[in-house]
Amino acid sequence: MEINVLKDYSDLSVTVADIVEAQLKEQPLSKLILPTGSTPLGLYDELVKRELDWSHAITFNLDEYLMNPDHPYSYHSYMRKNLFDRTNIYPDHCHFPFRPAIPFEDKMYTYNGIDLCILGIGSNGHIAFNEPGSSFKSRTRVVDLSLQTIQDNSRFFDSVEDVPKQAITMGLGTIMESKKIILMANGTNKLTILNVAMNGEITETVPASILQNHNNVEVYYCD
Ligand code: F6R
Repeated sequence: MEINVLKDYSDLSVTVADIVEAQLKEQPLSKLILPTGSTPLGLYDELVKRELDWSHAITFNLDEYLMNPDHPYSYHSYMRKNLFDRTNIYPDHCHFPFRPAIPFEDKMYTYNGIDLCILGIGSNGHIAFNEPGSSFKSRTRVVDLSLQTIQDNSRFFDSVEDVPKQAITMGLGTIMESKKIILMANGTNKLTILNVAMNGEITETVPASILQNHNNVEVYYCD
């Protein structure tokens, strides 16, 4: 698969913002899947700067820790701070995975499914919190985070002990039903896993490798 190498982080953020903007303008009632983490921070800043109309948009986040959603380090808080509270999106239109998972997934499929899914990639090849070994058929569910992910994400917490050990995540099967998928990756520490995922064997050991089976994926990287 082709990896589009961009010149810097700003270029990555602007390029993906162009794709989201085009989607929202072409189809105001778009359904989007959104990631958290470090990689999309510049994208969210760029989207806020553009003052787009989000009043018809509906969003679904990829994942959330099993923790109080009002905790300052939850993904609910992250999304409010970095995107939702800075746009005119309706809070009722912003969804996070919850239990039971079936009504959550049902919401995604009403009105024609997901139009655009934005993903990051973990240093172990995870997408959302589908850790290595996750079934390619997996749906939204509670998962144990790998030691690698707990270690990687400890930078957002006061200490590694504070990182939740479990999360609720969309499954790989769920993500693959999106009409279009954009994978964003930033930093030389992601380059090897990105190459393995996009051009190596398609295997559950490297969850992101499932994207090779999707017919509308674009991959953007900057170091
Ligand atoms: C977060 C998510 C994760 C991240 C991945 C990369 O919602 O789905 O898969 O995209 O862990 O995180 P960063 O961007 O912090 O390197």
